Amino acid sequence: MQIILFGSPGVGKGTQAKLLSEQFNIPHISTGDILRKAVQDKTELGLKAAEIMNRGELVPDDIMIGIIKDVLKSERCKNGFILDGFPRTTIQAEALDKLFAELHLNDVLLVHITADEEEIIKRLNGRRACKICGSIFTLSEIEGLGKCPKCGAENSFYLRDDDKEDVIRKRLKVYETNTKPVLGYYESKGKVVTINGLGTIEEVNKELIEVLKGKKVKN
Ligand code: AP5
Repeated sequence: MQIILFGSPGVGKGTQAKLLSEQFNIPHISTGDILRKAVQDKTELGLKAAEIMNRGELVPDDIMIGIIKDVLKSERCKNGFILDGFPRTTIQAEALDKLFAELHLNDVLLVHITADEEEIIKRLNGRRACKICGSIFTLSEIEGLGKCPKCGAENSFYLRDDDKEDVIRKRLKVYETNTKPVLGYYESKGKVVTINGLGTIEEVNKELIEVLKGKKVKN
């Protein structure tokens, strides 16, 4: 099973990818998470990526393509994967196609999750993550909690640097200009399914599972 979860910042890709990863027992590969880990570890990549991410811009294609090649060729991805945050440009999409051909993977499905801009901004303003386990929450889910409900870490919730209003707006612009054209690339191959991301997390998840079952993906 090779799934690409696609959609604008804050539409729910990471939330759904984590659920599907547990439900289908395949890894969730988030390029955003990979970059944030590198930033946290202050690696060479992290130092380079931090400034770009904080401006709401895209990390260069050659760097991202190199990262994805290493991950998808690794043992942990041999039974499939859920890609979240890649590809984000048509150059990345073309490189991914070449990689799939090399790995003899030909059943990729791109699931496009949609939501309106007002809802997206509301979600991103209200997103909190745990700095220990990386779990994502809405403000209402953690209201009054001093500990992360997933890993038990105390006072570990934080607002991502790129979830400030001006950076959110920049990310949305970058999505429209650089990332949305990727949809056309996959549509021309008949490999796109669109899902309404405006329901509750559980409703969106249910619809996603239906879609994946419809593609004869086995659980
Ligand atoms: P990345 O981390 O990929 O950010 P993104 O694509 O902007 O997506 P987000 O993580 O913001 O949103 P999401 O759709 O995962 O939403 P979530 O599930 O968290 O990338 C960050 C940066 O890294 C980029 O800007 C770029 O600089 C760089 N980068 C990464 N990949 C790159 C690449 N390939 N090339 C170049 N640069 C790259 O949900 C959001 C909130 O809403 C949460 O609080 C969640 O709890 C809540 N929520 C989710 N679903 C629902 C629902 N149905 N109802 C109500 N609330 C919900």
